[in-house]
Amino acid sequence: MKTFIRVLGVLVVLGVAALLAFIFVPVQRTGPTAQLAADFKPAAGQGEYLMRAGDCMACHTSEGGKPFAGGRAIQSPMGTIWTTNITPDKDTGIGNWSLADFRAALYDGVTPNGTHLYPAMPYENYRKLSEEDVVALYDYFMHQVEPVSNKVEETKLAFPFNMRFGLRAWNWLAASYAAGSKPDAGEDAQFNRGKYLVEGAGHCAACHSPRNLFMAQDGIDNTSKAFLSGGEIDGFTAPDLRGPASGPQTWSTEQLAAYLATARNAHSSATGEMMLVVRDSLQYMTHEDNLAIATYLKKIGSNGAAAPAAQPEKAEVTGTETVLSDAKHDMALGPRLYLDNCAACHAISGKGAGETFPALDGNSLVAAKSPKGLISVILHGAELPSTPDRPMKLRMQGYDDRLSDDEVAALATFLRAGWHNKAAAVSAADVTAVRGEKH
Ligand code: HEC
Ligand code: HEC
Ligand code: HEC
Repeated sequence: MKTFIRVLGVLVVLGVAALLAFIFVPVQRTGPTAQLAADFKPAAGQGEYLMRAGDCMACHTSEGGKPFAGGRAIQSPMGTIWTTNITPDKDTGIGNWSLADFRAALYDGVTPNGTHLYPAMPYENYRKLSEEDVVALYDYFMHQVEPVSNKVEETKLAFPFNMRFGLRAWNWLAASYAAGSKPDAGEDAQFNRGKYLVEGAGHCAACHSPRNLFMAQDGIDNTSKAFLSGGEIDGFTAPDLRGPASGPQTWSTEQLAAYLATARNAHSSATGEMMLVVRDSLQYMTHEDNLAIATYLKKIGSNGAAAPAAQPEKAEVTGTETVLSDAKHDMALGPRLYLDNCAACHAISGKGAGETFPALDGNSLVAAKSPKGLISVILHGAELPSTPDRPMKLRMQGYDDRLSDDEVAALATFLRAGWHNKAAAVSAADVTAVRGEKH
């Protein structure tokens, strides 16, 4: 018994020592992934371009606030996380940060005093940035961004999430892979450029990859099967970009690139979070880069070049279309609401019109696992941003003042099972929940 207690005592002492070391031993910061020439200077515009590719402005600017001055609230399952001031202001921003400090925030998610950042800052992905791009970004933030004095609200999550040192263990699980990006051997430069942008700066996986048990991105590159196989953001579905049933895998590479650059193509339009990604980030990419992203995504898709079977292009008449064109007086509520309110634009074939009115047949928002996006568009409408390629903003009005929860549910249920769609029904309670949320 005595030995047992002694062993227990030793274990407790060891445990406490380990915990103290865990909390107080300084965190290792990742160094440069390449040695740049002493006189290396980023090309003009390189840093700003990377800022666009990484979408830094969107998160680090508050509604109506000065660019990069922080203070935007990010809702997480753990509570509200406030973005920080990343202007070169010396008191409230990052004006005193060295290149090594800046790199550590992007690669390791740590600030100069060793505080761990919450992964709402997508350092899991920025860890893939090349040294050249880190230097270009640093140069941009230090010399081209206006310093703004703005003390942002402090993030105060509830216990245990306020114990930031716990993120150290999380980082071992989520962000311990070698920093930097390696091109896939055997693939060409276009594919690898797409890979670099998607896996790194674009942080597409932050939304489009599922989360594992530890809430880390399940797969941060294409060696993982789960990578970009579909995720969730704030209850909205971020669709599967790879699987055989994935919408983009049935589009041509050019159509996919057009969606990225303009938020619309002949099949679909981007709403909600994805509309913002296009508006704030992807529309600023060159055509070559959006084409590279599309090429990469198509190539890592599971059906590769195989012809999509689910999307017959011929003038096949579906049962849904027959119901709508017959328009019998005893037609059910769902199709009747569609005829009265929607068919003028989206057509009884569900195929929409060109790049103006998105197709609802085979549309991943309509048939998404979570119906929240569809309900939200019906209630609140949607607007496509103006981009260089498609300057016209397209707007769909919302129907929240005209349709009851039961009606929206009937309409959404009809759309989710209409034409070739096969998704679960929507209840009035689902609609009530979305209607009650701020948007
Ligand atoms: C999806 C939202 C999001 C994006 C995109 C984003 N950040 Fe952040 N960033 C955050 C949040 C949230 C924090 C604060 C996290 C915390 O308090 O733990 C943060 C913190 C930081 C910090 C630490 C600042 C400090 O004072 O502690 C730096 C530096 C930073 N971000 C730079 C960038 C750069 C550069 C980019 C673009 C390449 C970028 N961020 C893109 C959300 C984002
Ligand atoms: C902040 C979260 C977020 C990020 C980051 C994000 N997406 Fe999305 N994405 C979404 C959501 C949500 C949708 C669904 C929008 C809709 O259906 O209208 C979507 C839709 C898409 C679609 C259309 C899918 C379909 O089936 O219609 C493509 C393609 C796409 N995203 C590609 C990308 C790429 C490439 C990146 C990185 C450069 C990216 N996304 C980054 C949230 C995100
Ligand atoms: C006056 C024309 C018009 C009418 C009527 C209309 N829409 Fe739309 N709809 C649009 C346009 C334009 C868009 C693209 C806007 C966007 O995505 O931001 C759109 C987008 C959508 C989307 C998103 C598709 C995607 O790919 O993300 C859905 C779903 C949708 N409409 C459903 C409906 C339903 C249901 C009705 C009837 C209650 C309806 N629409 C009525 C013009 C219309």
